Amino acid sequence: MKPLKVALLGCGVVGSQVIRLLHEQADDLAARIGAPLELAGVAVRRLGRKRDIDVDPALLTTDAESLVTRDDIDIVVEVIGGIEPARTLIVAALERGKSVVTANKALLAEDGSSLHEAARRGHGDLYFEASVAGAIPLLRPLRESLAGDHVKRVLGIVNGTTNYILDKMDTTGASFTDALEEAQTLGYAEADPTADVEGFDAAAKAAILAGLAFHSRVTADKVHREGITDITATDVASAKAMGYVIKLLAICQRSDDGHSFGVRVHPAMIPRTHPLAGVREAYNAVFVEAESAGQLMFYGKGAGGAPTASAVLGDLVAVGRNRLAGTHGPEESTYADLAVHPMGDTVTRCHVALDVADKPGVLARVADLFAKHDVSIQTVRQEGHGDDAQLVIVTHRATDAALTATMEGLRELDIVRAVASVMRVEGDD
Ligand SMILES: NC(=O)c1ccc[n+]([C@@H]2O[C@H](COP(=O)([O-])OP(=O)(O)OC[C@H]3O[C@@H](n4cnc5c(N)ncnc54)[C@H](OP(=O)(O)O)[C@@H]3O)[C@@H](O)[C@H]2O)c1
Repeated sequence: MKPLKVALLGCGVVGSQVIRLLHEQADDLAARIGAPLELAGVAVRRLGRKRDIDVDPALLTTDAESLVTRDDIDIVVEVIGGIEPARTLIVAALERGKSVVTANKALLAEDGSSLHEAARRGHGDLYFEASVAGAIPLLRPLRESLAGDHVKRVLGIVNGTTNYILDKMDTTGASFTDALEEAQTLGYAEADPTADVEGFDAAAKAAILAGLAFHSRVTADKVHREGITDITATDVASAKAMGYVIKLLAICQRSDDGHSFGVRVHPAMIPRTHPLAGVREAYNAVFVEAESAGQLMFYGKGAGGAPTASAVLGDLVAVGRNRLAGTHGPEESTYADLAVHPMGDTVTRCHVALDVADKPGVLARVADLFAKHDVSIQTVRQEGHGDDAQLVIVTHRATDAALTATMEGLRELDIVRAVASVMRVEGDD
């Protein structure tokens, strides 16, 4: 059988593992697809760079554009990352009728529509399982297995670096800075950790998940995003004392009337009994709630060369089979075209710690302010006395706008010395 020729763009952490698997599993891949996969070229930035894998020097090129437009190439695997030149290269390949497999969450979340439209024009495949949660099969289940159901919510831990940091803070009492330093030493966090700790990486993944779950087009700028840099050891200890753990969550949720959805990334307290609370170290897990299927949980390694390459290879097999059959997989599904509602309309709960004056009438004035904004209080307790007095309040469900207005009001009350911490509470409804 004539081989399917593969052009690989990028030979870094993921690309080198793709090459290893293409070699090691060549026979099995050929049997599963119905034709062998032949690595026909590898585009890199620096030809002379020392690599984790031996690559035939005749395959290496810095001219990615010529490689993707070669007539004999059937499938392009893009693992360069970033917006350009990845977008131009992917679009050029798709428009020429090639199929593309990519792990590029940043590009899909910024301008996925350009890629999907190019795939439609070229009648080829655009597969991107590796772009969210690495090895965990999640996008195909949303795109195909759950295509007959009605997804209500996707709630997950989709960034291993921040989960590692928060897990260390929870288990050892470490500060954010110390936990980040440890994550950097162990290679879980980059030297510049901004994309992870400020939630940009998770926001891109949330945009992709929301688009698939709700059959609508979602870009990363529509995602409400907060990172974990302000979380203190005291926040973590206080959550622990109440039976909660703090996680950075990506949440995509349909509104009750079904006409819109919210998509957000922020730290939140979840009960220790929630399945996501047990997700330790750099692991990822995503909880999907669908009307008929009920609750599903996907768990595993969300990053790393080999786990991510596993997802890329799965996509390669799928698009290889499609090419041999003369067909292509499902196109982008955006027919529902639901609106993303603003964060203020999102319904959530809040845990708030207030440093207050320890004198009569304080609790009544604080409770009045909550009532004024229509936020009802579920529990309240006082910790400490005198100058150390702190009120710890957990609210019932309210809109984020009402909760934010309440916090602003609390900051202006003369009896409140400081709003020591505010954290949303999720996963116990
Ligand atoms: N690493 C993970 O665990 C992981 C997990 C899920 C998804 N992803 C996604 O996978 C993609 C690749 O990530 P990675 O960690 O493998 O990145 P990486 O280690 O930085 O590798 C990037 C590769 O792209 C090449 N490259 C950069 N600019 C290029 C250009 N203009 N033309 C041709 N080649 C170019 C680099 O060449 P040189 O080698 O010559 O520098 C390098 O081989 C990203 O989209 C990332 O978000 C990664």
